[in-house]
Amino acid sequence: MQVLGIETSCDETAAAVVGPEGLITDVTFSQVIHKAYGGVVPELASRAHVERIAAVVDETLERAGIERPDAVAATSGPGLIGAVLVGLSYAKALAFGWGVPFIGVNHLEGHLLSPRLDRPDLPWPFLALVVSGGHTTLYLAEAVGRYQTLAETIDDAAGEAFDKVARMLGLGYPGGPAIDALAEHGDPSAIALPRPRAPGLNMSFSGLKTAVRTAIERNPYMRAEDMAASFQHTVADVLADRVQRAVERTGCHTLAVSGGVAANRGLRARLAQLDLDVHIPPVRFCTDNSAMIAHAGRLRLLNGDHSELDTGAQAVWPLDEA
Ligand code: KG4
Ligand code: ZN
Repeated sequence: MQVLGIETSCDETAAAVVGPEGLITDVTFSQVIHKAYGGVVPELASRAHVERIAAVVDETLERAGIERPDAVAATSGPGLIGAVLVGLSYAKALAFGWGVPFIGVNHLEGHLLSPRLDRPDLPWPFLALVVSGGHTTLYLAEAVGRYQTLAETIDDAAGEAFDKVARMLGLGYPGGPAIDALAEHGDPSAIALPRPRAPGLNMSFSGLKTAVRTAIERNPYMRAEDMAASFQHTVADVLADRVQRAVERTGCHTLAVSGGVAANRGLRARLAQLDLDVHIPPVRFCTDNSAMIAHAGRLRLLNGDHSELDTGAQAVWPLDEA
């Protein structure tokens, strides 16, 4: 089964075709318009999706060499509601016109399952750490559609903390890649930062962000490289600690990491040190992409699921309700 997947939940207008052998092709238009504003402007994102969606989908099908896929999948939440609606409506119209099944995909499920794109034999169950701009959650993934939440952030997401700290250091948006690059030239033990606690296995990144602000105010002459490295090291440490404790709690020794922050070199290196079977997909499958939506939709369809054409967009959609 060849599935066309469409992703428009934030600032990428993207489409992909995934088949039995994995990704066939994908096309992404990254909206650069937001750079001038230091963050994604929802209305501008929706408009840019409307302008590009047809061309992106046409090019995807042309490159894949197909006129009509066997099914269509699209992100139906969570995300910027106007942005989600563009891809979702377009996908439903295509499915209706072609007379093929449609499935609405939870963007978080797309991330969670993305490590299986390049490693389809990843054994179940596995610990799934999803670290993105809006979510930081550790799940026990038991099967397609069966995800148990083990831990989550009680305030900021890890990616949000990266973006906020980057702003404090005068770096551009998105902040994660900028901190990652700067941290290469810094000393991770230069600045002692707290590892804020939260009940159970949960995480908190808001206090860490405040600690960075205080440290910068106290010592305005510190090297930005050292702060970037120390902050990145602390986030990686907190995440590695929660994974370790989840291993002890569940007895599961397989870890799959996904979401934009999984692109971070410091985090990748730290998690690779754990005595586990760790799989982190290539960077292009970590940050928002359409391959993960086509892939998750395909697995869902193979499971016998589909969505009705009156499926609406959901701004908030916890994964355990997917
Ligand atoms: O998964 P994603 O592309 O979009 C969401 O679903 O949110 O994640 C975006 C987040 C942003 O906060 C961005 O700063 C962060 O991922 N990010 C990184 C890196 N690349 C992207 N954070 C740290 N290091 C990176 N290399
Ligand atoms: Zn995402």
